[in-house]
Amino acid sequence: KETVVSGIRSTGKLHLGNYYGAVKNFVQMQNDFNCYFFIADLHSLTTHPTPADLHGNIKHVLVEYLASGIDPETSTIYIQSDVPEIAELYLYLNMNAYMGELERSTSFKDKVRSNPDNVNAGLLTYPVLMAADILIHKATKVPVGKDQEQHLEMARTFGNRFNRLYDTPYFPEPYAFNYSEKLVKVPGLDGKGKMGKSEGEGNAVYLSDDPETIRKKVMRAVSDGGPTEENQEKPEAIQNLFDLMKVVSSADTHEHFSDLYNKMQIRYGDFKKQLAEDMIIATAPMRERIMDVAKNDTYLRQVAKHGAIKARESAQKTIKEVRSLIGFKSF
Ligand code: TYM
Repeated sequence: KETVVSGIRSTGKLHLGNYYGAVKNFVQMQNDFNCYFFIADLHSLTTHPTPADLHGNIKHVLVEYLASGIDPETSTIYIQSDVPEIAELYLYLNMNAYMGELERSTSFKDKVRSNPDNVNAGLLTYPVLMAADILIHKATKVPVGKDQEQHLEMARTFGNRFNRLYDTPYFPEPYAFNYSEKLVKVPGLDGKGKMGKSEGEGNAVYLSDDPETIRKKVMRAVSDGGPTEENQEKPEAIQNLFDLMKVVSSADTHEHFSDLYNKMQIRYGDFKKQLAEDMIIATAPMRERIMDVAKNDTYLRQVAKHGAIKARESAQKTIKEVRSLIGFKSF
């Protein structure tokens, strides 16, 4: 069986982008592959969370993994910081990651632009830590959204460079994965760009949102005055709503509203109502389980402990081999 690794940062509750870009695939993949799913709490330190926020957000992700249907017996679910071997591999990989290539990463450039007061070294080497997450289990498939594609390319670069340096095909090449062949980018409700945790209130629909909240957010989503001629190209905000419908609704529903749009007969009120109801249906089973699972701290502790043991077993095997390849051997 091929090995799968993926993680989500502990920066808040999961939204539809996290679900369709990542978690939905996790649930499906666990039966076909040897899966490791983790909570990227080390990655979330780049933005300096308070200890209380960090702790709460780690719990959110763990709860929502379980509520989405990831089975801790089938897959290995763990918290990144419970596996110190990852940090060790990160250190080794850093020796062969160059300033120039790290500075050219699009996500780094975006962060520098949006938060110029906090350009820390952790942010610069973020893709190296991510490569360590993946290579530590020698994974080949990484279920992620479109926004992570460049990070996967960098992970391949760092793995290959290690292989070349020590003249051995040690790390396999990891590739981004989605069952639908194409990587997903779920748009937000603000008319521009992707759904994100930090994109401002109302842009994201969370898996834990209740039906009324979802209806309100969708009805307030940015739209426009409607098409002015038949078959016209959709402006970004409208295209985004159609893209959202494509991920949460049936193909028939999507086609129905596309036809109405093309014939200039669409009523955005009806369109949004349908979109909201389909989001409510898609998230309902998770919403209910989130509340249940969150109450059971004893169970959560067990899952994290069990996962850490399994993840460390795999990580320790790799680190032992890596140390020996590097030349750290006993006399
Ligand atoms: P993060 O925490 O930003 O997002 C977690 C996952 O959700 C996906 N995602 C989306 N997919 C489609 N549309 C969206 N609007 C959207 N928003 C988020 C992301 O692509 C991701 O799959 N660097 C990673 C975390 C990470 C990781 C790893 C992933 C750390 N180490 C190793 C895979 C393997 C991140 O910041 O994801």
